[in-house]
Amino acid sequence: MGRVAVVTGGTRGIGEAISLALQAQGRTVVANYAGNEAKAKAFTEATGIPTYRWDVGDHEATLAGITQITADLGPVDIVVNNAGITRDGVLHRMSFDDWNEVMRINLGGCFNLAKATFPGMRERGWGRIVNIGSINGQAGQYGQVNYAAAKSGIHGFTKALAQEGAKFGVTVNAIAPGYIDTDMVAAVPAPVLEKIVAKIPVGRLGQAAEIARAVAFLTSEEAGFVTGSTMSVNGGQHMY
Ligand code: CAA
Repeated sequence: MGRVAVVTGGTRGIGEAISLALQAQGRTVVANYAGNEAKAKAFTEATGIPTYRWDVGDHEATLAGITQITADLGPVDIVVNNAGITRDGVLHRMSFDDWNEVMRINLGGCFNLAKATFPGMRERGWGRIVNIGSINGQAGQYGQVNYAAAKSGIHGFTKALAQEGAKFGVTVNAIAPGYIDTDMVAAVPAPVLEKIVAKIPVGRLGQAAEIARAVAFLTSEEAGFVTGSTMSVNGGQHMY
């Protein structure tokens, strides 16, 4: 059995592509999901990858989820913090709940998963954590003070934890995807999305598999010297 890899939000969108890429690499993949039972069931049927349901923004639920996975499959060596939501809106119309949910899930989820897994990785002397940030955490985005703040926070979290993990063989990196062809991006109003795509030098949206490929590299055995980095995968939309 390969090393156990947990992908949060791992049954849909970018997360689904990441789960498949890590499985193809020989990892024992586990996909976490928050709510879409039907999709999770279909995902397991199609891939053989087990799913575990909990809210990554819930600290206790995350600790319990990782304890269960460890009991079922063994210690978790690889974590991909991919789960995330948007609650877009201009600040003057954004509620505290819209702010708080995005911070709790997108950024809080990274803390919760790391708390549950990093100590074990540190003790065993090997680990890989990849956090999915965003171009909008690097450059900001009109209508996304919550999401941009959370994703920017993820980039800072990554660099800080990378320093703590380095001498224990635990690497911590981030990927900053641009606009990828997923349900999340499809929810952007069409005229707004058209203007965004017009600004992507490569001339198209990205594919989820293109993010997954980067995750597969950063979690590989050979990537031990890459830590604290943020890899932009955005079609040249923002060069940082
Ligand atoms: N820059 C400057 N002005 C902008 C703007 C921008 N990027 N976008 C919109 N505006 C302006 C509009 O032109 C409009 O101005 P006027 O009133 O003078 O005409 C005004 O802001 C209001 O625009 P909307 O009619 O769109 O306002 P709204 O309140 O209905 O919606 C919004 C605002 C929710 C922010 C909407 O514009 C939107 O959804 N924008 C897309 C946000 C986005 O890119 N989200 C990314 C989601 S995908 C993701 O997050 C994944 C990832 O990591 C990349």
